[in-house]
Amino acid sequence: MSKNTKRTLLGFVVAIAALLLIAYLPAETEAMSRAAWQYLGCFVFMLVLIISRAIPDWAAVLCTMAVLVALKVATVAEVTSNFAWQPVHSMTLLPDIIEKFSDENTLVCGTGGFCDGKSVAAAFAMGADGVQMGTRFLATQESDFCDLWKKLVVDCPDGGTLIARGFVGPARWLRTPAAQAHAYATAKDAPGSYVGVPDDFSKIPMDLLVTERKGVAATYRGDMENAMAGAGECAQRITDLPGTTEMVEKIMADTEEILKGLSAKYLVD
Ligand SMILES: Cc1cc2nc3c(=O)[nH]c(=O)nc-3n(C[C@H](O)[C@H](O)[C@H](O)COP(=O)(O)O)c2cc1C
Repeated sequence: MSKNTKRTLLGFVVAIAALLLIAYLPAETEAMSRAAWQYLGCFVFMLVLIISRAIPDWAAVLCTMAVLVALKVATVAEVTSNFAWQPVHSMTLLPDIIEKFSDENTLVCGTGGFCDGKSVAAAFAMGADGVQMGTRFLATQESDFCDLWKKLVVDCPDGGTLIARGFVGPARWLRTPAAQAHAYATAKDAPGSYVGVPDDFSKIPMDLLVTERKGVAATYRGDMENAMAGAGECAQRITDLPGTTEMVEKIMADTEEILKGLSAKYLVD
């Protein structure tokens, strides 16, 4: 192996190691998002390539641009799958999915709105094999969400959530003053969230996209005035902060009782 080839290989190894260490190892903060660390990592990647003279300077710049594009493509592909632009209620979606896909090899779990025995029994009555609960587990003793987030769920009144733009699509928020102001801004600058049509990501004002980040950071600071915290619609049905063992046992016992009671109530012998 020639001296030049060795230098190129070594330069690349050190540059990639520096990129990965800087882009992914440090924790995100309000000042340094993951994207900001990735940009810094790419900058250092380019510097190492140039300083080590591994490749010509113009090639180092091109290489860095290719890495940046690759990182952005990977990030967008990872997160966009989480959001539904066209909201469909569980009551409509779950029976539909069960009719289309459920069989002896395919288990179907309902998700969205399930938080107690009544809702689990309803899912079972529709033919589901199980349910997944998000918001209910958020408001538990063991949950690692911060205290203000849990309190906002427990205190959520009827109609206490709203839809407003999240970073990558529409999201449901507890109705805090900041979330309500953000919903008005969404209606003005990203109306697709309300009509089930994806907005053009490149045209949405950056302010609107970073609101989620700022609002969640405020929640973690305990700053109620600026707090934004995501939760499902069933937050308005959650009023306590139980331990998970006790909670799951109660939900299962209530579900069993309701299912047994159904035939007694609705069927004659
Ligand atoms: C605060 C919060 C953050 C969530 N983040 C994600 C996420 O990043 N990706 C995802 O697929 N679902 C996410 N979900 C949705 C949950 O995985 C789950 O499907 C949903 O909460 C179920 O509805 P429920 O909250 O009514 O039980 C999130 C839910 C909440 C409440």
